[in-house]
Amino acid sequence: MKNNWWKESVVYQIYPQSFMDSNGDGIGDFNGIIRKLDYLQNLGVDVLWICPMYASPLVDNGYDISDYYKVNPIFGTNEDMEHLIEEAQKRNIKIILDLVVNHCSDQHEWFQKAMKDPNCEEASYFYFRTTENDKEPNNWRSNFGGSVWSRLPDGRWYYHTFAKEQPDLNWYCPELRDKIYEMINWWLEKGVAGFRIDAIINIQKDTTFPDYPADGPDGLCSADTVVSRASGIGEILEDLKVHTFQKYDVFTVGEVFNMKEEELQEFIGEHGHFSTMFDFSQHLLTAGEHGWYEQRPFCFEAWRDALFTAQEKAASVGFLSNIIENHDEPRGASTFLPGYAQNDDGVKMLATASLLLRGVPFIYQGQEIGMRNFKARSIEEFDDLNTKDQYELALRMGCTEQEALTCCNRMSRDNARRPMQWNAEDNAGFTTGTPWLKVNPDYTKINVQVQESDPDSVLNYYRKLTALRKDPRYVQTFTYGRFVPVRERIPEQ
Ligand code: GLC
Ligand code: CA
Repeated sequence: MKNNWWKESVVYQIYPQSFMDSNGDGIGDFNGIIRKLDYLQNLGVDVLWICPMYASPLVDNGYDISDYYKVNPIFGTNEDMEHLIEEAQKRNIKIILDLVVNHCSDQHEWFQKAMKDPNCEEASYFYFRTTENDKEPNNWRSNFGGSVWSRLPDGRWYYHTFAKEQPDLNWYCPELRDKIYEMINWWLEKGVAGFRIDAIINIQKDTTFPDYPADGPDGLCSADTVVSRASGIGEILEDLKVHTFQKYDVFTVGEVFNMKEEELQEFIGEHGHFSTMFDFSQHLLTAGEHGWYEQRPFCFEAWRDALFTAQEKAASVGFLSNIIENHDEPRGASTFLPGYAQNDDGVKMLATASLLLRGVPFIYQGQEIGMRNFKARSIEEFDDLNTKDQYELALRMGCTEQEALTCCNRMSRDNARRPMQWNAEDNAGFTTGTPWLKVNPDYTKINVQVQESDPDSVLNYYRKLTALRKDPRYVQTFTYGRFVPVRERIPEQ
């Protein structure tokens, strides 16, 4: 397989709200990231993925973008952002952004115009439908609960795969595509090295909007069904690539759930739509079919098998991006380890598996010190809209408040979104003010500073792993070598 810079890279994911606050307002920012660039360089990081830092009303914490060209002032200015790109470059660190183009915010000027005038060009950037009766156009379920359809005061329904404040963009509209391509190229010209591409599989749907068989007591069917019944994603993704990424030497990683198996080559093969995509196979093992209330207990053998299978499938095709955690998942140390192994040794084992696998390793902020889940005592302690929705769903499905809370504590996206633990001082050294989301009280024991001075710490182990992976003597093997499972499952008789 061809050698590419990104295949030999280690990526670090930053959730900007929670990484480092430089001005005491309790929210992480660009200057905070700049302060920590030496730390990241020291960890052996080549690429930073920064979660959405665009203008946004933050209904879904930045995944609801109201202006793709402006950064959110809570993080600083566009100049600060450019300064960050430059400072990172000085340390040979590239920056990739989150590309959120399945939907935008209902506050985006396109949607605002479309709401006012059903006949304007912007109205064709979204999916609007009217119905004869007062019912939604069909029975599809949004990923954050309820129907995918919400209604405007003038009676039109509009479509949203996620929250009602995140209207889906119509990728079957050529003018919309042009606007998106223009924006992507604008950022590429600014020197960003690529994108993590959000919820991209959801852009395809059957726009005649038929009903599908219900899969839950609400009479609705899931977004997974919507995706699996649709076809033609390849044409759209190729068009996207040709007009943008292909013109630059960039790295793209798709957030792709439920792709059709035979599409792997088309997605991440040598001439694929993306450089790589995330391997979520281990994360899907604990997800409940209809919600967190149905989550399944973790089984270590199933984890190993999922990992082996994913590796084997990708081996002759392309490269996966390997993750233990991200901003949507609970902490790996709390999820993927049996109770007896939730200690430094267990965490190091996960790190070894993830960083030395074939594929592009991603480290999520705090993973490198073994940060753990946060134990909330009430639903009030969560910020994430998805968590609140899952809590309500669990109650509706008959869980007690305590059971619903236990599900959220295990699965909540806020587990990974709590502030980074830098030291044992107030608020873990993340802010001098009041953090936007409460710090995990275990910061007095788990933090960067204590681990710096301990040669056997998880942090120093991560440093050794990245150094080993990139050591000129081994880099070819770890990057382009073959994955051979040693201890395989014994087939059932
Ligand atoms: C992706 C993001 C998630 C977000 C959703 C909607 O799954 O990772 O955080 O809520 O898309 O944009
Ligand atoms: Ca700040």
